[in-house]
Amino acid sequence: MSPRRGAALLAAGAVLAACGGDPSALDPAGRGAREIAVLWWIMLGLGTAVFALVLVVLWRSRRRAPAGDRSSAPLTADDASERAGHRWMLLGGVLLPVVVVLPLSLLTLVIGDRLWSRGGEDVLHVELVGHQFWWEVRYPDTGAVTANEIHIPVDREVRISMTSEDVIHSFWVPNLHGKVDLIPGEDTHIVIDADEPGRYEGLCAEFCGIQHAHMKLLVVAHDAEEFEAWSEREAAEAGTPSTSAERDGAEAFATLGCASCHTVRGTSAVGDVGPDLTHIASRLTLGANTIPNNRGNLGGWIADPQRIKPGNRMPPTVLDAEQHRALVAYLESLE
Ligand code: CUA
Repeated sequence: MSPRRGAALLAAGAVLAACGGDPSALDPAGRGAREIAVLWWIMLGLGTAVFALVLVVLWRSRRRAPAGDRSSAPLTADDASERAGHRWMLLGGVLLPVVVVLPLSLLTLVIGDRLWSRGGEDVLHVELVGHQFWWEVRYPDTGAVTANEIHIPVDREVRISMTSEDVIHSFWVPNLHGKVDLIPGEDTHIVIDADEPGRYEGLCAEFCGIQHAHMKLLVVAHDAEEFEAWSEREAAEAGTPSTSAERDGAEAFATLGCASCHTVRGTSAVGDVGPDLTHIASRLTLGANTIPNNRGNLGGWIADPQRIKPGNRMPPTVLDAEQHRALVAYLESLE
């Protein structure tokens, strides 16, 4: 191998290694992703072996061709070479595909069946609704509703039932499982689990419009106790505003139009167009994992949502500085 070719291969290797960061289907943290990763490595191994075999056969045939006329096939063939040709066709055209494809198909069926028949008695139910360009997350057992982050307990199967409000989206958290589409008018589902507490990044894997790339989500896995605490807090109604700024903010929220799109459980705000904001302050990100949830970003989002995520469905709200400050104070109190 020439030095230049070696360097090119090394560079390609470095690029591939860089692809191994989070999120990655090859760094499984749940049973679904683990089974898929096993299948992936077997397919890569077999594919590489077949590719190497084809290269060897090509190389040998080049060496055997008579010198000086390597480009054209002989016009006539004697019996021996015809028999050899038939043998190659049988080996490469029939036997090899059967040996490679049949076991792979069986393995895919077995793993697929194991993955789709999951979800026993103890399963936690979560409902996921796709919207342009965010995820509505509901917990039917407790009544909790949140957005863009799915909190789950570790070591427990979680059945996520899905549908879409508008166009087709696709749920994909590579470290936990494969992809499943969210289809308007259809119900689909997936059963995930996580081995360790942590945050697992997910994304929409089906082009759904201008902000498809910013339709991301987080799966946050807790140990059982921590999950119970989260679950209880998330199911509760919003607390009452305690400072005068928060009260002004609640007033602004109810009168300036926010309440016609957003719900804050326990108040008169029952809009169902945008995310439920009952516990917005406890979320990690804004705009479907586009920016971290902090005071500056929250203020910026309210002032001009189209600047941060152009094409999202939130219209601009006309606010004076006082109202803006009060709204931020109110939303930050919704823990
Ligand atoms: Cu939703 Cu892409």
